[in-house]
Amino acid sequence: MVSGKGAQRILLLLSGEHPTIPCSEALAVLRTEGVEFETVARSNQVLILDSGKGAGDAIGGRAAFTMEGGRFLFSAKPSVEDVELRCSMADWSFLEGRSFGVKVTRVRDYFMGVDTQKVQGEMGYSIKKQTGSSVNLRAPDFWIRGVLTDGGFFAFSLDFTTDRKAFSARRPRSRPYFHPGVLDPKIARAFVNLAQVKRGEVFLDPFCGTGGFLIEGALLGCQVCGIDLDMRMIKGGRQNLAHYGLEADLIHGDARDLPLERADGIATDPPYGRGSSTMGENTKGILSEFFREGHRALDKGGYLCTAAPLEINPAVLAKEAGFTVREEHRMRVHKSLTRSIIVAERT
Ligand SMILES: C[S@@+](CC[C@H](N)C(=O)[O-])C[C@H]1O[C@@H](n2cnc3c(N)ncnc32)[C@H](O)[C@@H]1O
Repeated sequence: MVSGKGAQRILLLLSGEHPTIPCSEALAVLRTEGVEFETVARSNQVLILDSGKGAGDAIGGRAAFTMEGGRFLFSAKPSVEDVELRCSMADWSFLEGRSFGVKVTRVRDYFMGVDTQKVQGEMGYSIKKQTGSSVNLRAPDFWIRGVLTDGGFFAFSLDFTTDRKAFSARRPRSRPYFHPGVLDPKIARAFVNLAQVKRGEVFLDPFCGTGGFLIEGALLGCQVCGIDLDMRMIKGGRQNLAHYGLEADLIHGDARDLPLERADGIATDPPYGRGSSTMGENTKGILSEFFREGHRALDKGGYLCTAAPLEINPAVLAKEAGFTVREEHRMRVHKSLTRSIIVAERT
């Protein structure tokens, strides 16, 4: 049981951009930041947790695939009547007479027969009647959020919103050096989070290319080190990090023979032998050798997050190198490419 000062039940509204990564990323952030938690319930795009102090700050400051979150208020069956009933039974004392606004949204097309505008209106009326607080839909002291999803209706007080616009502002094409095959900054951030590196720790991307993962790691306050076999990438990566005023150690080298002693976490997107260069080498062979090197360089308990084409089966290669594979996610890119994304622990 999670207890202590600041412990509370929270709801996280996750992005629908991927079915499994948003939830894994949020939980990885809590582990990394040392926030205690227990999962209470999960629905499509909704995660409810009992968590220790600092969960909102940790997730709001790091996660790419959590949209917003805050104190869990109540759940209800997906009907206007049940929401009204549960709303009338909830504890609204935290409002302390201050203004509020209610906003109810629907995940995908769940319970289309329930009118979200009506739910919103009824909740506003009920809370106002119970507390005497005024409704302010422009700049309320509190936003009360409602979400209709596969598991029913959930209400929470909006305590934090992640700055997702900042990720779009860092899109690869807006950087001084661009090369095709760079992952979107949100995915890059999620990979770094899945590698569970803390501020001040050493984060390594051994196939760093233009530096997309290094930028995310450096923004989280890690000491970042990137390696690439192509000198053009090293120069371009340096330009890209400097563009954001970030520091990184970029080394011209080979991921199969890492020129560094140790790392606390590794996240990377290796070449797939398609668009990006493998310098004529076999992708599976490169990955196997890199996993052995990664296993050597990572401290015990350190995590590696990497992607590879599904047919290469990186989970098997990581196990052969001595890792314990904790998670596997799939990401379909197009008809002939599905990525397998693995999170492996150096046990
Ligand atoms: C998919 S790209 C990485 C893209 C990167 N995430 C970014 O933000 O630009 C793969 C990179 O691996 C590099 N590479 C290929 N073989 C390598 C090896 N053996 N060691 C290190 N880098 C290698 C390529 O030069 C390429 O830049």
